[in-house]
Amino acid sequence: MAYPHLPVLLQEVLYSFTANKLHTFIDATLGAGGHAEALLKAHPEIVRYIGIDQDQSALAIASERLAPWKEKTTFCHANFRDFHQIVSQLDLSQVDGILVDLGVSSMQLDQAERGFSFSKNGPLDMRMDKSSPLLAAEIVNDWPEKELGKIFRDWGEERQWRRAAQAIVVARKQKPIETTLELATILKPILPYNPKKGIHPLTLIFQALRIATNQELQTIELFLKQAFDHLVPGGRLAIISFHSLEDRLVKNQMRFLAEDKWNTSGIGGVFLDKTPVAKVITKKPVTATEEEIKSNPRSRSAKLRVAEKI
Ligand SMILES: C[S@@+](CC[C@H](N)C(=O)[O-])C[C@H]1O[C@@H](n2cnc3c(N)ncnc32)[C@H](O)[C@@H]1O
Repeated sequence: MAYPHLPVLLQEVLYSFTANKLHTFIDATLGAGGHAEALLKAHPEIVRYIGIDQDQSALAIASERLAPWKEKTTFCHANFRDFHQIVSQLDLSQVDGILVDLGVSSMQLDQAERGFSFSKNGPLDMRMDKSSPLLAAEIVNDWPEKELGKIFRDWGEERQWRRAAQAIVVARKQKPIETTLELATILKPILPYNPKKGIHPLTLIFQALRIATNQELQTIELFLKQAFDHLVPGGRLAIISFHSLEDRLVKNQMRFLAEDKWNTSGIGGVFLDKTPVAKVITKKPVTATEEEIKSNPRSRSAKLRVAEKI
C-alpha cells in the first residue's frame, strides 16, 4: 500500500543509528510510520518499538503499516512534551534510540477538515491533537493584533506580518473568520504570490498559526530538557526540524548538554564546571540531497541533528 507521507532524510536517519544496537526505541512522532518501518527492517534486534503521536488518526495508519511487527510495537497517543510521564507509564527505564520528526504530516495537510491548508477549504482548526482546547480560529478571531503580528513575524518569518495582522483585525470586526478559505481571501490581496520568490506567503502565515495552535516551540523545548535522561550511554537522539527557530533550539540544547562549562551570567565571564552528558554527532545539520528535494519538496527545509548520550 502507498502511504501519502514520504519520510524525509530516511537514509540519513538510518545512518544515524547504524552503529547502535537498538533493543528499545522511541519514535516520538510516528506519523504514517515511514521511518518506523525502515528502522524495524534495518534493526531486527529491536524488541520494543514505541510509536508516539498526538494525532489518533496517524496512530491508526501506522498500526496498520506496522502490523508485521505487532509483537514488537506499542502505540501511544500522547504529546512528547510529557516525555518523563510517557516513559514511566510505559514502564521503560532507558532506551537505545529516540527519533523526532517534527511538523505536520502529508495526511494532516490533505484532510481539508483539519484546516492546515489554505488551498483546501475547511474550518480554522489546525490542532494536531483533536482533544486539545486551542483552535486556530480562536487565535485569528480573539488574539490582539500585536500578538498576531508577532507570530506572523517570528514563526512565519513573513515580511508583511504587520499588514497581515491589520487585515485580519479589520475583517473580523465585520464577522468572525471561520474557514481557511475566508482567511486566505482576506490575506491574498496583501500577500500576493510571486513564484520567482519560491514559498507562498500564505504558507508562512498558516505555518505560524499552526505553530501557535499546537504550541510547537514550547513543546520541543520541554522535550529537549527530558529526552537525554531516558537514553542509555551510547544511545542516540535524532531530531528533524523544519523551522529555523526549532532548529536553533535543538542546536543550542545539544551544545549545552555537550559542554563542560556553564555560563551562569548570560553576559560572559562567570563559568561553572559541569559534566557533559552528550556528544554532538552532527557538527552541522544534515540536509536533503537535490534528488530528495525533487522527489519530495517537503524535505527542502528539513534539518537533521543527532547527539549521543555519554
Ligand atoms: C512529520 S510527521 C512524522 C512522519 C513520520 N516520521 C513518518 O515517517 O511517517 C509528524 C507527526 O508528529 C506528530 N506530532 C507533532 N508534534 C507532536 C507532539 N508534540 N507530540 C506527539 N506527536 C506529535 C504529528 O501529529 C505528525 O503525525
